[in-house]
Amino acid sequence: MPKTALQFRHNGREVAVFVDGGANLLSALRDEIGDLSPKFGCGQGGCGACTVLIDGEPVLSCITLAELVAGKSIATADGLKTGPELHPLQAAFMEHFAAQCGYCTPGMLMAAKALLDRNPSPSRIEVVEAISGNICRCTGYEPIINAILAAAARATERRA
Ligand code: FES
Ligand code: FES
Repeated sequence: MPKTALQFRHNGREVAVFVDGGANLLSALRDEIGDLSPKFGCGQGGCGACTVLIDGEPVLSCITLAELVAGKSIATADGLKTGPELHPLQAAFMEHFAAQCGYCTPGMLMAAKALLDRNPSPSRIEVVEAISGNICRCTGYEPIINAILAAAARATERRA
């Protein structure tokens, strides 16, 4: 199958890869770049484990054509921590025991990041809506919701 050259920004870094025609973004990230943070869950757009951001918007990378991200900026959970400190969402997930097996966690983090980037002080229902496409089999969701609200509250305190 002919390969297509593809350039985009991955967690702030310019990358160039060759992908098969029709390849999805999830496989481009995992197989060509080696970013294993977006997970393969259902592969059908139903679980959210593969959630990444394209130009700040959450997308399901398993059902996104890799070729569509040419020239765009992709953010994944792998890029959340940029220094010695955890990203506030990662820290809150730890403090609130929001990850058990952790398989859903990268997708949850990115869905939460997209929410907090556009709405820094979400209501509980807005958090629930933001992660409504992300399935977690372990936590019962409450710790995840609490972690996202805690991260938002902490960011608000810092801005005050
Ligand atoms: Fe993409 Fe489930 S793996 S939505
Ligand atoms: Fe296991 Fe969410 S922590 S699926």
